[in-house]
Amino acid sequence: MKFKIQKGNGLKGEIIIPGDKSISHRAIMLASLADGRSEISGFLEGEDCLATIEVFQKMGVSISKQKENIIVEGKGLQGLEGPSSSLDFRNSGTSVRLCSGVLAAQEFPSTLIGDSSLSSRPMARITEPLGLMGANISSTKEGTLPIQIEPVDILKSIKYSTPVASAQVKSCLLFAGLYSEGITEIEEKVITRDHTERMFEQFGIPIEVSQFKAAKLIKLNKVEGIRSANIDVCGDFSSASFFILAALITPNSELLLRNIGVNPTRIGFLHALRHMGANIELQNETDSFEPTADILVRTSNLKGITLNTNLVANMIDEMPAFFIAASLAEGITKIKEAKELRTKESDRLLVMSEALDCFGVKFQLENDGITINGLGKKGSFKSSKIDSHGDHRIAMASSIGSLRSDGETTILDCLNVNTSFPNFIDTCKEVGIDIKRYE
Ligand code: S3P
Repeated sequence: MKFKIQKGNGLKGEIIIPGDKSISHRAIMLASLADGRSEISGFLEGEDCLATIEVFQKMGVSISKQKENIIVEGKGLQGLEGPSSSLDFRNSGTSVRLCSGVLAAQEFPSTLIGDSSLSSRPMARITEPLGLMGANISSTKEGTLPIQIEPVDILKSIKYSTPVASAQVKSCLLFAGLYSEGITEIEEKVITRDHTERMFEQFGIPIEVSQFKAAKLIKLNKVEGIRSANIDVCGDFSSASFFILAALITPNSELLLRNIGVNPTRIGFLHALRHMGANIELQNETDSFEPTADILVRTSNLKGITLNTNLVANMIDEMPAFFIAASLAEGITKIKEAKELRTKESDRLLVMSEALDCFGVKFQLENDGITINGLGKKGSFKSSKIDSHGDHRIAMASSIGSLRSDGETTILDCLNVNTSFPNFIDTCKEVGIDIKRYE
């Protein structure tokens, strides 16, 4: 699938952004392991979260849609049934890594597979610590899918300091910790998104969190059961980031994004953009279990910055959009300590640098970052053809960047936009973006 986009002007409107992907995955997982019925509203019906639903359905959990909500009949911590064939996580890194923590503790074997992108992503980061907990888990010798898990008598708790800043690794171990004898202790030297910790509290799972400056320690005891919960999923900040970018870079624009998750561990992009001079206001802030706000964004003149490396983990998924903002800012933007970008749905440092090259932007690519020479407020991108390499966030960031091109831009390999933002095209059209999809 490809997209064709025309230069933009005057984007206006109030939009609803689909549900948060990270929160949707966790809601399905905990609801499946809980005792009794849970109801999830605002669930993201993107391919990634549907893959999580299918995996739990395959293990005997009844999950259905009633009106707009997802109803999960939880089977209890010990109630999953062995699947009759491999569990296919398709494109979803979050799903395969978090579910591995649950599957390592089951009394049945499982084989975990995914699409070609997921099959090239690193899994040793979870198989190694799960192995330390006593799990019988193996991957290919390159440390990739398929993962094979065999049952063991018990998992034991560990004290583990996560070597990479990854909420997926932390969460995988927290899920395994639900089943592990003793107290699981996880230390993060860099704090990552805390949706699992917040969701555990919603399902009544006692967890102790202490924070020391930049680091965090989480303690979790084995639990005997989990109560069910009704979860309201807010709009996904990462999906919202494309429309924040659109309003900032397109002349004469003003967009209001309703009910977006503004969890402090997710909004590094907002801080970085404000540092660049972006006009972004938060309105109607709530302090529900996942804080939310309406986000009002107006066209802004951005200036280049040296990105504070402490923000990187909290804007890791927004980096493709940030690269576009930097490319249209006045002056130079430097991004360092962002090597994790190379392990995402594509090598995002490389693939985004290729996109910038097509757009006619000058940059210097490094192993762990990039320095971008912004074109400034009057600058425009060369209209061109960009290959997103099947990466949803590259496809959407490049589509939005095209609003500042000097003609029509084509973005290739866009089908995976459906993994996180199935109605992206319709939302673009709602605010006045001229975008067309071709099969
Ligand atoms: C996610 C964590 C991040 C992020 C991904 C979702 C999560 O990955 O990139 O899209 O829901 O836990 P890492 O933890 O690997 O950085």
